[in-house]
Amino acid sequence: NKRVKIKELLTWEPQDQQVTVMGWVRTFRNNQFIALNDGSTNNNLQVVVELGKFDDELLKRLTTSASINVSGKIVASLGKGQKIDLIANSLEILGDSDAEKYPIQLKNRPTLEYLREIAHLRFRTNTFGSVFRVRHSLAFAIHKFYNEKGFVYMHTPIVTASDAEGAGEMFRVTTLPFDGTPRNEDGTVNFKEDFFGRSSNLTVSGQLEGELGATAFGEIYTFGPTFRAENSNTARHLAEFWMIEPEMAFCDLEDNMNLAEEFIKYIIRYAMENNREDLEFLAQRLADEEKQLPQDKRSEMGLIEKLEFVMNNNFERITYTEAIDILIQSPAYKKKKFQYDVKWGIDMQSEHERYLVEKHFKKPVIVTNYPKDIKAFYMRQNDDGKTVAAMDILAPGIGEIVGGSQREERLDKLEERMKEMHIPAEELWWYLDTRRFGTVPHAGFGLGFERIVQFVTGMGNIRDVIAFPRTPKNCEF
Ligand code: 4AD
Ligand code: MG
Repeated sequence: NKRVKIKELLTWEPQDQQVTVMGWVRTFRNNQFIALNDGSTNNNLQVVVELGKFDDELLKRLTTSASINVSGKIVASLGKGQKIDLIANSLEILGDSDAEKYPIQLKNRPTLEYLREIAHLRFRTNTFGSVFRVRHSLAFAIHKFYNEKGFVYMHTPIVTASDAEGAGEMFRVTTLPFDGTPRNEDGTVNFKEDFFGRSSNLTVSGQLEGELGATAFGEIYTFGPTFRAENSNTARHLAEFWMIEPEMAFCDLEDNMNLAEEFIKYIIRYAMENNREDLEFLAQRLADEEKQLPQDKRSEMGLIEKLEFVMNNNFERITYTEAIDILIQSPAYKKKKFQYDVKWGIDMQSEHERYLVEKHFKKPVIVTNYPKDIKAFYMRQNDDGKTVAAMDILAPGIGEIVGGSQREERLDKLEERMKEMHIPAEELWWYLDTRRFGTVPHAGFGLGFERIVQFVTGMGNIRDVIAFPRTPKNCEF
């Protein structure tokens, strides 16, 4: 018999087809009905075990999460809520699962906090099934989007000597011999053993290498893991996260914003068209969760409604200076509701960003032209001498999802700015060569992959949208 995945099987018309299905038992009811799941969908296949057909010893082993291989025929279901049943003809247990020890009890919905402690098994729940299928689709849609536009996918290095952002801490790479950690005489670790004698770190961004690609191929994107050793325990930060970084030659800030907005809408639309069932499941999960909250803490829109709204409406576009003015004139500011002060020049805190998107505009907002002193060295300086051609995209419920800019393509301006910021030009000689040999206006941005997955799935904590979250003290598996 041909093995069929349950997602496909559930679309069939029942005509006594012989099939084989493999999966994990969710429940076994009345010694007769197996709810079987194979990870292709949250919908279980009902497998009917006819009375007397299999011996009791075998049936006893049909416990939650036991894996089975079952063959039989597809018939119209007698039960409600499903179209088909599989009448088992042969049934083999591939792996037993001790019901006493299996840590996920399906009867009372386990909390997300609890599931984080057993992250190695949480994929077997409906919530994580949906989240990771949507994550997969978004990743696929990202490649599809850039491929359709003719961008070259570039693999930038994970280990590098450069620090693209100059913000936050980096993880350092060392080469330790297998026979033990090299120690100094006082017992402290000897870090002289670096990357074969050179100091290096895990990349914080593929941008600088991406710029080398863009100034040759015209348009490139990266999509890979990036690392930040920020010791922050928030629902939006990971020490290891994935970032998509397109970089375009012959492109200014306006083009950059247009691309970012089109890109975000495209991947949301792709998920809406291809993961409707999972998104509806997640929307219901979120609605159930929000029922516990006081009225004023609940979202105004359901998840599906929110995604539709974002797909069909323009993002708001304002300058940093306008954003600061809005904040200063806000009731929240006047009533001293902000924890951090607001004045021109501040690096906006997430409370400020969230005020702008959630209270003021109630839609995604692109903020441009930030003060140069709070942004990276590579951003193009504006004529006012104070701001740079930066853009951040802020999303309701999340805050910053995109950071980008037009790049400083003028060698003299770039060198001057690097000097001011004490960035040694010798270390970035290769980067500066792009400005020496056929420099062009160019721009790009970085989209935090987990943050967009959070936005699309409605998951409140970033730890629940990446398979193995790396946060302070969290790296066992
Ligand atoms: O704003 P960031 O630091 O920008 C860059 O790294 C640029 N080099 C991008 C570029 O222009 N090519 O980071 C970009 C995005 C943020 O907007 C956020 O979505 C995400 O990456 N991000 C994080 N996501 C999860 N955990 C963290 N610790 C993150 N730090 C940044
Ligand atoms: Mg940023």
